[in-house]
This record gives sequence, structure tokens and C-alpha cells, in this order.
Amino acid sequence: MACLNLFAVTLCLIITGTAHGFNMHQQRLRADLLTNYDKHALPADTTTVNFRLTIKHFQMIEESQTLLVDSWMVNEWMDPRLSWDPEVYDSITKLTVPHSMLWKPDLGVYNSATVGEAISYGNTLLIVFYNGRVLFVPPVQLHFTCVMDLTYWPHDTHNCTCVFGSWVHDGFAIDLQIMDDKPEMDLPMRMTDGRNLTRGTWDLLNASIVRDVKTYECCAEPYITIHMSMMVTRNAPAYAWVIKGPALGLTILTLVVFLLPPAAGEKMIFGVLCLILDMIFIGYTSFIITLAPSHTPLIVKMMCKQVLLVIGSIVVGAQTLRLARDPHTTGLPTFMQRTLIFFSTFLCLHNYRNLVWEVSRTNRQAYARSLKSDECELRENGNGQVLTGGGGGGGGGGELRSNPGHDWVLLAAVIDRICLIIFIAIFVVNAFAFSSVL
Ligand SMILES: *[C@@H]1O[C@H](CO)[C@@H](O)[C@H](O)[C@H]1NC(C)=O
Ligand SMILES: *[C@@H]1O[C@H](CO)[C@@H](O)[C@H](O)[C@H]1NC(C)=O
Repeated sequence: MACLNLFAVTLCLIITGTAHGFNMHQQRLRADLLTNYDKHALPADTTTVNFRLTIKHFQMIEESQTLLVDSWMVNEWMDPRLSWDPEVYDSITKLTVPHSMLWKPDLGVYNSATVGEAISYGNTLLIVFYNGRVLFVPPVQLHFTCVMDLTYWPHDTHNCTCVFGSWVHDGFAIDLQIMDDKPEMDLPMRMTDGRNLTRGTWDLLNASIVRDVKTYECCAEPYITIHMSMMVTRNAPAYAWVIKGPALGLTILTLVVFLLPPAAGEKMIFGVLCLILDMIFIGYTSFIITLAPSHTPLIVKMMCKQVLLVIGSIVVGAQTLRLARDPHTTGLPTFMQRTLIFFSTFLCLHNYRNLVWEVSRTNRQAYARSLKSDECELRENGNGQVLTGGGGGGGGGGELRSNPGHDWVLLAAVIDRICLIIFIAIFVVNAFAFSSVL
């Protein structure tokens, strides 16, 4: 038992002893490296900084038109002042140091949305290797501006670019290089029933990193910036249901105004109902109008055109309603009647045509008969389309009287039908014009 205890104590001593020794060496190394180390001085005349980025998460903030990217930024450079001989320091090949104690490149985001705030590196440690290589992988949040083009909302895609660079040093002092022309995209995603569930409403289609060197006329030194572009597209299938569906439905409803009979007063009620629904829809989408001050989203344009169409249909509907319902004492001139009868055949308005045609045919027959029998009688009946009382057929065989109201109903029906065709044509043209958002 005592033997076992002794063994345990010895083992313990050995372990703490080595750990202690290792710590001692680290401490000595850190002290040796950092004494007289000026973290504000550049490591060399030209320091090459290798740069890479891993995108972990991003979020488009539409109200401020900015993109918030959570990323891991990999920076790597050589600092000759930080090299040592591992033999002297108990084979220590790397050392971790708080980033605030060493020199690091003064990278800044040129199109930052939070101007004045430097990139925050948190409490990340730097790793220094014995040959002077320094590796710095801080998790950083980039917040940069990205002006959005909402024309194709809700199918909009945006190319957002974040520009990095050394804030004060030119390309001779800090030479920024990219290790990879594509940021690594490591976006967390969950699969459920074959669907990808993402945290935001945006999908990252593509991303690239480009190194840009600019030389200005004034000076010899180049200025190096890194442009990280992200193509993001809105991925919100729910918009298809709540925006596109109602928009299409409202467009189709307008056509119904012309499908109702010309004498139906419900046309007006229906038209005004369509107008109100369109207005509600425009009000509902008004939040994107405020986000797109310099251009109009196509879906809003479509609904505004829709409102004009509905107003047009109400005006035409009111007119045809009057034609069909007003009391008329005289019929239409014969040539107009003929033209209407001719057109109505093509417009599938047989029922209305027959109403008028039967009458005029019986009139003609009567005319011919009367011509033979008595000229006097002709003069009375031939001119005379005497107003009959109610709606009655008027087309009774041999009746010489006709209802002038029928002429006007036919006219209203023809106008209605022609408008229906025009509106269908406009609908088809619009459907093609706005197919990119539907
Ligand atoms: C996005 O914009 C950047 C910078 O303007 C450009 O270099 C890049 O080619 C664009 N990407 C696409 C896919 O258009
Ligand atoms: C889900 O995401 C993976 C990886 O990005 C992709 O390959 C796959 O096509 C996506 N599936 C669907 C249904 O979008």
C-alpha cells in the first residue's frame, strides 16, 4: 500500500515537473521574444500577408441595405523578430500570444457599414512558429454596405462586394496576397424531408476573392485591396404563395367584369371590389417601395397597371350598363344595326343578335308584304319602330313592332365582348412582360 502511494506521488511529481519545466521554457521564450519588441514597427521592409476567408453565416439587412457576414479570417505573415531555435527552448516549435501584444496588419473594411469601428478580433490568440511565421485566425464580423436592386423582387439576386485593405500602408510595406480565390463557404444547414432549412432568407450562390492593385498618378507605390464578392439570392418560397398567387389572381378577376352580362349592375360592385383588393395589395407591398427609392419593383409596376385596368373596366362597365338599362325611345340607325349583327356573329353573341335580328327580319318581311298590299300602310309601319312596353320578346311572328332597347343591349354586349378581348390581350402581354417575377 505504501509502495503504491509512493509510486503515485512520484508519478505526480514527474508530471507536474515536466509541465512546470515546459511552462518555464515557454515563459522564457515569451520573455526573450517580447522584450524590446515594438508591436508598432513593421516586421520587415515588405511584409507579405496571406489572406483567406471562411464564410460561416451571413445576413442581408434590407432596411439598411447592408450585409453582415460572420467569418473566419485567416492571416499569415512572417515576422523575423519572432524566430527562435527550438533546441534552445526545449523543442518548443510554436507559441501562442494574445494578438494585442504583437504586430498585425491593420486591415480595415473600406465599405464598412459601421464606419469608425475597427474590425473586432475579440480575444483570439496568435500562433507564432519558431521560424517566425505568424498565424492569426480570428472570427470576425464584417458589416458592409450593399446597395440592392429590388426590380425583380421577390426573385432578386445581389452582388455584394466587401473591400479590405491595409488602412495606412501601401503595397510596398504590406503586400496583401490571397491564398484562395474563393472564400470557403461553410454555411450550417439542416436537411429535413429532402429540403434544406437555412437560417436566413438568403442563399449564397457564389463568392470570389479578387486582389486589386491600384497605382495613382501622384505616387509610385501601389495600393492593394482585396475584393470579396458574394452573389446572394432571395430564397423564400413563401413569397410565391403570398405575393405571386394573389397578384395573378387579381389580374384574372378583372376579366370577370366583362364576362358578366352587360345589364348586370353587379359589374360595378365587382369592379370596385377588384379596385379595393388591388389597393390593399399595393399597400401590402409598399414596404419594398420604401426600400427601392430609385427604381420600381416590377411586381408593384404590375399592380399599378392593374389598378389602371380596373379603373378602365369600371368606366367601360358603367357605360355599357347605361346602354343596356337606360330607356331608349329610338333604335340604332340601320347601318349600325347591320354592323353590330355582323360583328356579333364573330363575337359569339348569338343570343343578343337573335334578339335584334329576328325583329328586323320580321320587320323586313312585313315591309315587303305591306309594300305589295298598300303603300299608305307602309309609310306608317315602315318608319315606325314603335316603343313597346316591357321587356317582352318583341320577336313574335308577324309583329311589326320591335323593341329599340334590344339594339342598345346588343351594342353594350358587343362593346363588352370587344373589351374582354382587349383585356385578355393586355393580360397576355403583361404576363409575358412580368414573367420574370411571376
Ligand atoms: C460582382 O461584383 C464584382 C465587383 O464589382 C465583380 O468583380 C464580380 O465579377 C461580380 N460578380 C458577378 C457574378 O457578376
Ligand atoms: C441542399 O444543399 C445541398 C448542399 O448545398 C445541395 O447540394 C442540395 O442540392 C440542396 N438541396 C435542395 C433541395 O435544395
